[in-house]
Amino acid sequence: MKIFIDTANVKEIEDGLKKGVIAGITTNPSILSKEPKTDFIEHIKKITTLCTKYDQTIPLSVEVLTDKVDEMVGEAVSLVKKIGYKNINIKIPLSGWNELEVINELANKDIKVNCTCLFNESQCILAGFAGAKYVSLFRGRMKDVGIDPDIVIANTRKLLDDSDLDSEIIIGSIRNPREIIDSFLSGAHIVTAGSSHIKKLAIHPKTTESVNQFLNDFKDWLK
Ligand code: E4P
Repeated sequence: MKIFIDTANVKEIEDGLKKGVIAGITTNPSILSKEPKTDFIEHIKKITTLCTKYDQTIPLSVEVLTDKVDEMVGEAVSLVKKIGYKNINIKIPLSGWNELEVINELANKDIKVNCTCLFNESQCILAGFAGAKYVSLFRGRMKDVGIDPDIVIANTRKLLDDSDLDSEIIIGSIRNPREIIDSFLSGAHIVTAGSSHIKKLAIHPKTTESVNQFLNDFKDWLK
């Protein structure tokens, strides 16, 4: 069970790394577009520098920026070379049959693939057979179209466990903190979520109330 942070914001990443609870980082083109406009590779290198600063060569997922299947392998190889980070994972969306060849070719080049934008069990196991290290299901977007994500997560986990595949399920598209826990309970290996959702996992109103009561009781005793 691992929590990844779903952001390209270096402050949020550093804050998470300092807490010791972040085991990986995922980005996508939309997430990157939320950051101040800059050189894409240079921004990614700021993130890898942070990981190295905290002695953590944790998995960092960066998505290809082309939707042309015949360009994906070349772009992925170029990203790996330009970024120069030991644990870089390349995100390849599985829009159809042909992307499996991209996944397989990259896996054969020992490039770790995070197959992304997935919505059902069949996409996940095909990506796994093709050699994807991670298969990313999009929880929030699944619910948007009436798919029960917990059933798909549980089914996918069972299928993977019953196979000789070592692909790990990442659950993304998290819309609230409770979905992080629900995803783990359903069988996710990893959940990737935004900083605000992860931070809220540490908070409960009764904790605050109890701590305040303890301190107030002690202050009253000292009077
Ligand atoms: C995982 O990294 C996904 O790209 C991300 O969680 C998608 O989230 P969204 O559905 O909120 O765009």
